[in-house]
Amino acid sequence: MTAVLTYCRAGFENDAANELMQQASDRGVFGYVNAKKGNGYVLFESYQSEQVEELIEILPIEHLIFSRQWFASKLHLQNLNLQDRVGDIIEAISQDEHFPQCGNVRVEHPDTDSGKELSKFCRKFTVPLRQSLRKHGLLTDKPEKSPNELFVFFTDNQTCFVGYAKTDNCSPLPHGILRLKAAADAPSRSSLKLEEAFQVFIPKIKHEDRLRSGMKAVDLGACPGGWTYQLVRRGMFVQAIDNGLIDESLMQTGQVEHFQVDGFVYEPKKKNVYWLVCDMVEKPMRVSELMADWVAKEWCVEAMFNLKLPMKRRYESLMECLDFIREYLKANGCRKFSLRAKHLYHDREEVTVHIRRHRVG
Ligand SMILES: C[S@@+](CC[C@H](N)C(=O)[O-])C[C@H]1O[C@@H](n2cnc3c(N)ncnc32)[C@H](O)[C@@H]1O
Repeated sequence: MTAVLTYCRAGFENDAANELMQQASDRGVFGYVNAKKGNGYVLFESYQSEQVEELIEILPIEHLIFSRQWFASKLHLQNLNLQDRVGDIIEAISQDEHFPQCGNVRVEHPDTDSGKELSKFCRKFTVPLRQSLRKHGLLTDKPEKSPNELFVFFTDNQTCFVGYAKTDNCSPLPHGILRLKAAADAPSRSSLKLEEAFQVFIPKIKHEDRLRSGMKAVDLGACPGGWTYQLVRRGMFVQAIDNGLIDESLMQTGQVEHFQVDGFVYEPKKKNVYWLVCDMVEKPMRVSELMADWVAKEWCVEAMFNLKLPMKRRYESLMECLDFIREYLKANGCRKFSLRAKHLYHDREEVTVHIRRHRVG
């Protein structure tokens, strides 16, 4: 049976499943999910297989918050012959007359402790599998000759899901994960969260324009300074708001003003702030209200912030926050804006949200 298989952070399977069900049913695709806590992936099965294949085309992957990657899984192969796993996979795909020809193959595994043990094997397995797929005409000679990517997702060394995704509607990253290396001089590891957020939410070709040197930024809950560091290294001038202590080397750049005040009452003197970033550990609705208010009052153009997820009803609570932001912005005259959220690789019990106010006219 065809299913949509999505990858997520281990422990967030229910959230990924709830979201997938909701997004699918919003598009008239009804089904049920198979999600086991700790697996690092979720299966969405539909009563009509062809609808599942349609879903990976009509639902943009960037609309999914908790899923990092996905594909339409057409085969679930178990008890593979350890002496010839390539042969077993080739035979199974060849027997499925509806399996589309693909341009590229990716061999992956869940992002879990047991999944990671398969990482070396998956890497080594890719080359002989690719060669054999080409030999059997299941892969085109060049990737760009097909709009599809073939996925082989191993859950143990004898079991895999095999399917395909649309190249233009799946993550180009291995495992859907953006791996980043912490800079040695960054004041905290959280710095990577903002780096990832900028890379995920702002298209690379827009960086020069929207992450420009000389811009003014406000960082609420800035200490010890990991997020401020990201803004400073891009040449921005930062008002860092936090009662705590900020990294001294950041202050020495001359680009940072530190205000030891409450982030919920801080108001910038000059209304020339482009970026508002916020990593305060607070109730998600309270942060949502603050962020929506800054954008509605035009105190900033773009906002990037974290919403801490509660212990229970994580997906529902997040939806309530995002709905609130949407409604608040509309009710307060913000006619054109974009709002996106993602459970980033460097996020744990939180989700990163991006709001951008667009110029009208
Ligand atoms: C997770 S840390 C921020 C880490 C920071 N983004 C970094 O990369 O170094 C949260 C910070 O929010 C600050 N904070 C919490 N509530 C605040 C408030 N109401 N006003 C200002 N800062 C606040 C805390 O003092 C703490 O330093």
